[in-house]
Amino acid sequence: MSDSPTIALIGPGAIGTTIAALLHEVGRKPLLCGRTAHPKLVLRFDEGEITVPGPVLSNAAEITQPCDLVFIAVKATQTASSAGWLDKLCDENTVVCALQNGVEQKSQLVPYVNGATVVPSVVWFPAQREPDASVWLRAKPRLTLPDTPQAKRIADALIDTRCAVELSEDFTSIAWRKLLQNAVAGLMVLANRRAGMFSREDVTELALAYLRECLSVARAQMATLNDDVAREIVDGFRRAPADLGTSILADRQSNRPMEWEVRNAVIQRLGKSHGIPTPISDVLVPLLAAGSEGPG
Ligand SMILES: NC(=O)c1ccc[n+]([C@@H]2O[C@H](COP(=O)([O-])OP(=O)(O)OC[C@H]3O[C@@H](n4cnc5c(N)ncnc54)[C@H](OP(=O)(O)O)[C@@H]3O)[C@@H](O)[C@H]2O)c1
Repeated sequence: MSDSPTIALIGPGAIGTTIAALLHEVGRKPLLCGRTAHPKLVLRFDEGEITVPGPVLSNAAEITQPCDLVFIAVKATQTASSAGWLDKLCDENTVVCALQNGVEQKSQLVPYVNGATVVPSVVWFPAQREPDASVWLRAKPRLTLPDTPQAKRIADALIDTRCAVELSEDFTSIAWRKLLQNAVAGLMVLANRRAGMFSREDVTELALAYLRECLSVARAQMATLNDDVAREIVDGFRRAPADLGTSILADRQSNRPMEWEVRNAVIQRLGKSHGIPTPISDVLVPLLAAGSEGPG
């Protein structure tokens, strides 16, 4: 990859707009590829605001050649519909950085990327889209990537931006730790309540039991996580502001498809493949799936 790699960003939503704006701020100009042809992107944060001039392209036929680096920040439920972009933007020399939740970004993207290298990430910062399509960045942007040569190229592209990048030799454990947090947040969908619900002792007990189930699967997948992780995650929700939500709850409340497959069903599916009983997932997953897709 050259010193000035060509960069594209697919999915300029909450996370995508953040990365596009931080690159733009230091003079790197990613090609913006979206579903909606926004005239510009706007990122707001405590210290100010960054406007990224458009256009946001909305037709993959406009792409004439592959890019060196592609960030993809669509919801996991939107990956298949992004295939046209990936096909035009990727060849075997491209590095694709998945800015998506879950532990299966690589296997989910590989079918679409023409032999490019897919690098998963853990996205640590909350960002939210406002009704006017601007994005509110709610914490310091930070990513963790696996410590590989291709991930180093992503870190280089983000160097001198406001986004901190860590390369981890034990990315698997970090990604599973984040997945466990996302998985238990799924309980908020069934209760239709925010983080305050974790102050109930019965919800705490349920969350701990679910997290122990998730931990068994995580360890079978080679994550190194100790027993304390379950309590740490629940305590994190108990300490959080009572009105702290989660994107899967926001999606449910707006009647959008939910990322239940990559956040919850993955535990059940991988558990079964290892012969690990997943009784809580067996109740939770069909209800999340029905909440996302119906019918009814
Ligand atoms: N937001 C967070 O705080 C946060 C934190 C950690 C991890 N994550 C993860 O990051 C990923 C992205 O989440 P997000 O919150 O940024 O989602 P989001 O705000 O809904 O953004 C998704 C973007 O993708 C666009 N899109 C949808 N289908 C597309 C297609 N076929 N081609 C091109 N663009 C398409 C959407 O376009 P429209 O403008 O038309 O909707 C939107 O701009 C998810 O996996 C999420 O779980 C999010």
